[in-house]
Amino acid sequence: MRKSDWRDFHEKYHSTSYLRKIDRSHAPLRLMISEEASKVGKSILDVGCLSCIDYPIHQNSNLDYTGVDVAPKFLAHAKKLYPGIDARLGDILDLPFHDLSFDTAYSKDVVEMLPPGEWKQAVKELWRVSRKLMMIAFCEPPWDAPTNHSITRRGKLICWVNRYNKPDFVEYLKALPCLVSLEVREPIKSLTGRDLALYIVRKKNG
Ligand SMILES: C[S@@+](CC[C@H](N)C(=O)[O-])C[C@H]1O[C@@H](n2cnc3c(N)ncnc32)[C@H](O)[C@@H]1O
Repeated sequence: MRKSDWRDFHEKYHSTSYLRKIDRSHAPLRLMISEEASKVGKSILDVGCLSCIDYPIHQNSNLDYTGVDVAPKFLAHAKKLYPGIDARLGDILDLPFHDLSFDTAYSKDVVEMLPPGEWKQAVKELWRVSRKLMMIAFCEPPWDAPTNHSITRRGKLICWVNRYNKPDFVEYLKALPCLVSLEVREPIKSLTGRDLALYIVRKKNG
């Protein structure tokens, strides 16, 4: 699979209701993200937002929501479900926003699905546009595999699913400019028993 194919993957292979049915299984993690964001400010950016599944949760938390995704089909669906929503086309590797545009920028279940080698640029972009808080959530968390930079497997379908080398990932986060703290919450159990993880990274600009 070539790199560029991944950007079309969800658009090509999933229906617009993708992940909506199993939304509840990741609810504890989704709620945690919203709760942390509402502690630091009002604006929140959701990168790789799909059809903006998290939007109602953030609305409940009184947050000003912006979603970004590379898949136009899901953005169109989000706009149908939530008229007036700010949902835009964009790539996590080159986000269409100025520096420090959002109190919180986060991405859930996206970074581990980028082609190997691209995660650093994704982190860099999330960090650049966030003012106070960056969160990265994983359904395939980085793991302690010191000899491997990434383990890639093809799931039932043909997309990338990477398990990144955890020490490398943590080291990269700790070296980010203006970092205040890094907190790793794991495992966070999904309602189906899957181990999820949330990396919470705080920034000095706050
Ligand atoms: C597994 S889904 C996760 C959706 C959502 N964050 C959630 O947890 O419900 C991955 C999403 O990332 C998007 N995506 C993939 N590559 C991307 C990229 N380079 N930039 C932005 N979004 C991307 C896909 O289109 C898809 O919507």
